[in-house]
Amino acid sequence: MTTTPAKNPAPTTAPAPGPALGRVGAVLRSDRLLRIFAWAAVITNGIIAVTGATVRVTGSGLGCSTWPECQPGTLVPEYRQGLAAIHQAIEFTNRTFTGAVAVASIGTFVLLWLRRPRRRTLLWLASVGGFGVLFQAIWGGVVVRQELAWWTVAPHLLVSLVLVFFALVTVVRIDEPDVPARRLVPRPLQALAYATLGVLTALCIAGTLVTAAGPHAGDVDTPRLGLPVLSLAQAHADLMFLYLGLLVALTVGFLAVKAPRKLLNRGWLLIGVTAAQGLLGLVQYATGVPEALVVAHVFGAVLVVLAGTWMVLGTRERSTAEDSVQLRPAPIPGGDRPEKPGRPQFS
Ligand code: HEM
Repeated sequence: MTTTPAKNPAPTTAPAPGPALGRVGAVLRSDRLLRIFAWAAVITNGIIAVTGATVRVTGSGLGCSTWPECQPGTLVPEYRQGLAAIHQAIEFTNRTFTGAVAVASIGTFVLLWLRRPRRRTLLWLASVGGFGVLFQAIWGGVVVRQELAWWTVAPHLLVSLVLVFFALVTVVRIDEPDVPARRLVPRPLQALAYATLGVLTALCIAGTLVTAAGPHAGDVDTPRLGLPVLSLAQAHADLMFLYLGLLVALTVGFLAVKAPRKLLNRGWLLIGVTAAQGLLGLVQYATGVPEALVVAHVFGAVLVVLAGTWMVLGTRERSTAEDSVQLRPAPIPGGDRPEKPGRPQFS
């Protein structure tokens, strides 16, 4: 939802010095560029979770034997006897892709920083993405230096999922005015919706423990978590059934209170994605965790985090009175161009 320039004077951008700089300034402060970077942060954080799993299941975790260099004395892969070229290439590609995540996440923060007036909440949200990618780049070094110890690999994936969550919240908040949120469902239902994020977190943590006890460590010699895989997988699956049960109860609750159609659709979408991910999890477990299914399962986990966040964000809205009356899109606060009528709006 957005603010209307007429009655609620949207903050305008400061006049740009000089025509060329003015044009550059206008581009840097354009709504379009901000949305592109913010969505790029969502997508690249999701992709690196999947490329990270690809490194793990292909046994390329130590393809680059050290950090920040790939091989002692060189930042790039070194092709010589005894060094598996494919593992180096897979690990190095994953490391390089961190650059794309950094540009998208830190770029979003910088573009928000350049706007006037600055939107503090958004800057905080975007700073999580910026500092998060820096943390992940360094923690990646800890993973290699600790030779892929499971207690380093598990948080590495979990932090990526958290960054996916914050990146999507940032995308949605960009198009919302900085006014208090209005609940679209009764408080107990909204509380239940937020509680599902807690269950999803436990579900993903349990998943990384199944991985830690399972065969795909990222290198054949890496010691595994000494707990029975079956019990961990059972706990992981039980949490999935709890999550799915809560989502069904929640969506039926949305129906009962005649919640907005868009929220209902988000509930059904989340149930669908979760059920598909659960089925994939069961099949991958039953077939001995084949590499391709494990990577697909991590991609599925990213989709569940996105759909889960999207549903929770749909339980409230931020709009000015005019918005709900006029229902006409308008410029983003701090932006410089009004939205074209009929353009899809976030959340
Ligand atoms: C919404 C449902 C589910 C979500 C969000 C989810 C999420 C995850 C996550 C985040 C991981 C860790 C991946 C990694 O460490 O790289 C994982 C691993 C795993 N999950 Fe699930 N999972 C779900 C359902 C299931 C179900 C129902 C099963 C059935 C037993 C299952 C079986 C597994 C297995 C076997 C692994 C370890 C894969 C490996 O060895 O690398 N998952 N899951």
